[in-house]
Amino acid sequence: MVLGVIGHPVSHSLSPVMHSAAAKSLGLDLTYDTYDVPPDELEDLMDRFRNGDMDGLNVTVPHKVAVMEYMNELMDNAEKVGAVNTICRKGDKLIGANTDVYGFITSVEKNAGEIAARGRILVYGAGGAARAVCHAFADRNVERLLIANRTRHKAEALADSLTGVGCAIDVLDYESNNLVDSVRSADIIVNTTSVGMESVSEKFLPGSENIHQGQLVVDIVYRPLETPLLRQAKRAGAMTLDGLWMLIHQGARSFTLWTGAEFPVELARVSLLKALNED
Ligand code: ATR
Repeated sequence: MVLGVIGHPVSHSLSPVMHSAAAKSLGLDLTYDTYDVPPDELEDLMDRFRNGDMDGLNVTVPHKVAVMEYMNELMDNAEKVGAVNTICRKGDKLIGANTDVYGFITSVEKNAGEIAARGRILVYGAGGAARAVCHAFADRNVERLLIANRTRHKAEALADSLTGVGCAIDVLDYESNNLVDSVRSADIIVNTTSVGMESVSEKFLPGSENIHQGQLVVDIVYRPLETPLLRQAKRAGAMTLDGLWMLIHQGARSFTLWTGAEFPVELARVSLLKALNED
């Protein structure tokens, strides 16, 4: 099989590391490459894919929404989330899936227990990743979702798109007393923004100094693996979960959709940690 990930830029992607390691350990004959595709070359790439040059693709920034128009079918939350991160080809038909929701739920539940047992969720960010994370929580019928984003109107648009999911949704001002109170009273706090990434100068989220013991703090950033937010949360005695787990579990679901095989999750983590250390 010829598999890969399309994005722009995409050379930093760790997906080839884990999928190649998984294939090797299972004795599967497949390749997994990166394809750097500027937006104006997306249509050509999709034609090549449909005509059989590739068998399956992951999709990353900035193409997760743009690829949807090329899909013959949508499955696995893609329609609900409004984004595709995995494409399977059956003959000349392209089937789009979103495995980020599964990846997020599984990363939390395998490491920190049932989401449904915790009611108040604070999500920082309102981009594509926040959308998948919010739908993951809504799937688990949490009580209340609080969304805080630097650009408030994007948080409002995300909240509007979640209307009808069955939990209460509030938008918080990014720098406000309300946000501080919500950090204190949340059961789970999730960062889906770029804050804390190695390449981003902004290191701290407003209100995060109020994190305390008994809370679960999740960062979907994995470069660095221990972000300033996770370090702060650990020091405060909160439980923490790093972003590599979501990457692994969304990849696991994609791998199974393409190959039918079960993904070796622990082995993937070991190879990813090694790759991160060598960076
Ligand atoms: P992704 O698909 O990874 O979610 P995205 O859709 O580009 O990427 O969203 C990036 C998120 O990180 C947004 O919520 C963005 O906030 P804005 O809507 O205000 O742009 C947030 N973000 C990026 N850099 C940030 C920074 N320096 N401070 C605060 N938020 C930041």
